[in-house]
Amino acid sequence: MAVRNLDHAPHETRLASRSVYPRDMGPTVATESFAGRDAETALLRNLVRETVLGHGQCALVEGEPGMGKSALLASVRAEAGELGCQVFAAAADELGQEFPLRAMVDCLRVADDTEDPRRAAICGRLRQECSAGVAGTGEDVVGAAEELLDLVDQACGRRPVLLVLDDLQWADRASLLVWHRLCRSAEQLPLLVLGAYRPVPHRTELDQIRRGVRARGGVVHVLGPLDHCDALRLVAARAGAASCGGELAWLADRAAGNPGYLTELADALLRDDRIRVSAGVAELSAADLGGRVPAALTTAIAGRLDFLSGQALATLRSAALLGDEFSVHDLAVVLHRPASDLLDALGEAVRAGVLAEAGSDLAFRYPLVRQALSDATPLAVRSALHREAAEALAATGAPPVLVARQLLAAADTVDEWTLGWLADTA
Ligand SMILES: Nc1ncnc2c1ncn2[C@@H]1O[C@H](COP(=O)(O)OP(=O)(O)O)[C@@H](O)[C@H]1O
Ligand SMILES: [Mg+2]
Repeated sequence: MAVRNLDHAPHETRLASRSVYPRDMGPTVATESFAGRDAETALLRNLVRETVLGHGQCALVEGEPGMGKSALLASVRAEAGELGCQVFAAAADELGQEFPLRAMVDCLRVADDTEDPRRAAICGRLRQECSAGVAGTGEDVVGAAEELLDLVDQACGRRPVLLVLDDLQWADRASLLVWHRLCRSAEQLPLLVLGAYRPVPHRTELDQIRRGVRARGGVVHVLGPLDHCDALRLVAARAGAASCGGELAWLADRAAGNPGYLTELADALLRDDRIRVSAGVAELSAADLGGRVPAALTTAIAGRLDFLSGQALATLRSAALLGDEFSVHDLAVVLHRPASDLLDALGEAVRAGVLAEAGSDLAFRYPLVRQALSDATPLAVRSALHREAAEALAATGAPPVLVARQLLAAADTVDEWTLGWLADTA
């Protein structure tokens, strides 16, 4: 419930140096006002305290993009730094998966110009393994992995350690194996091994890691949306206000508690000078009453969805034409494909948290996202697609209200078929 300020961990271990791989920035850090997440913060803070007392742990935070995983990890890093822990943190990146141990090397700040001979030796081994034209045997990776484990072990001998790896869904396989081994040794060391990942793209190794963490009594926390009050607090805080007026609150509700979407919504409105603050209340400016979504926001949201496969995105764009809720059957009709063809794409969208089950139908979790997907199709094309959808639905005997909704969206496409259907249905 509280609104806190987060900064970089003051005692964070930062060996500014060049890595054997290009350096990664590590998890994003929320320096702005932080809303809600009291239970999660308390849970992780407790793990840090226990680690400082010598009882290590492993913990995973799972959540869809924008749900605030990195922001939460940043708050744990700050806490651990204040309690005197050594903090090692990095985020895996999508392109780094090809390089063995890349994520762990970044995390442990193993750099080739370091004074530390052990780190230099690890760099040497990996450089050999990754040299152009040399087919690596894997032996050097195994050796480097053992040395990395040793590094952590020795660091724990000096001070308690917090090791954070964000975006585990992109970590290379060798780093995930090291992460898994660290989890196994955490309980005997003052070591907190913390990771965060998205459920999509799905990684089998992450299933194994999750099972391992659970089996060891560690924490696997699925980060859900902010509740209504905290969501409004986040938006108000970004606008420098204490609360939101009714129109702004209506618009914020369309982000369904996802802090990433809420942040982008608030920032897009502020950029366009569309928020006024009066007596501590932030509200859409008078000209805006009616709650249009800024174009910059729909573009930003469309960009956030690019982690989905092309097939899932195309299916979602068509589904967006049908409204916030739709039946798989109607979608199949509109696409002129059997429903069985759509299962993979829709399953991916559900796992990614873009769609959710709504009784026997599917629904967009975030109305903002549906709008962004729909707006991504040019208006003229959208009109034509709505008109086609109306005809396809009518041909299968869909209820007139569904057909009418499509015709209304096709606004200016009044042709012979439309007039005929209207006459028959009336
Ligand atoms: N509880 C929160 N309060 C305020 N802002 C938040 C909160 N959680 C996340 N944010 C902001 O929302 C955006 C997305 O959060 P992030 O942690 O990057 O999500 P994820 O890592 O799950 O994709 C960031 O700008 C972050 O600062
Ligand atoms: Mg993140």
